[in-house]
Amino acid sequence: MLAGPVFAVLLCAALCGAESQIFRNAGFESPLGPDNWSCSGCTGLQYGDDKVEGDYSMEAQGRRADWAGPTYLLTYGTDVISGQTYDFQIYVKLLADGSNQHEIKAVVSATFSDGEKVYQKISSPTFISQNDGWFKLTARATVPVFTA
Ligand SMILES: *[C@@H]1O[C@H](CO)[C@@H](O)[C@H](O)[C@H]1NC(C)=O
Repeated sequence: MLAGPVFAVLLCAALCGAESQIFRNAGFESPLGPDNWSCSGCTGLQYGDDKVEGDYSMEAQGRRADWAGPTYLLTYGTDVISGQTYDFQIYVKLLADGSNQHEIKAVVSATFSDGEKVYQKISSPTFISQNDGWFKLTARATVPVFTA
């Protein structure tokens, strides 16, 4: 759900310090995988050398496109509830390119039962550079209400 320039980014515990936590493996304390944080179009690794809180952050390396980045699959009706609004706090750090600014985005992609896929950017325009260090990206998304 995070996109940015094509090189490694570090991600720290989405919802760091929040009251409730909808993510499994939010602090990346166990291996990354398909049922929690994973990397889409990149390789995700637990990273112990630098983080905002907890023991680990997630490193996204080998990014193959500018949309590639950490991703998490949320299931409608269990992980997220219809009509509910969620606030996300995501710490991001770029690992290369010095003072050059790059856009980072949080994106929600919704897949419908007929296979249709819709992408929605949920963060406001944000540009950061490696020199900025850790940056807190905030985003908000409301889960649509569907009626049969
Ligand atoms: C995350 O996913 C991996 C691979 O499926 C699994 O080994 C690990 O236990 C999961 N961690 C949590 C906290 O769900």
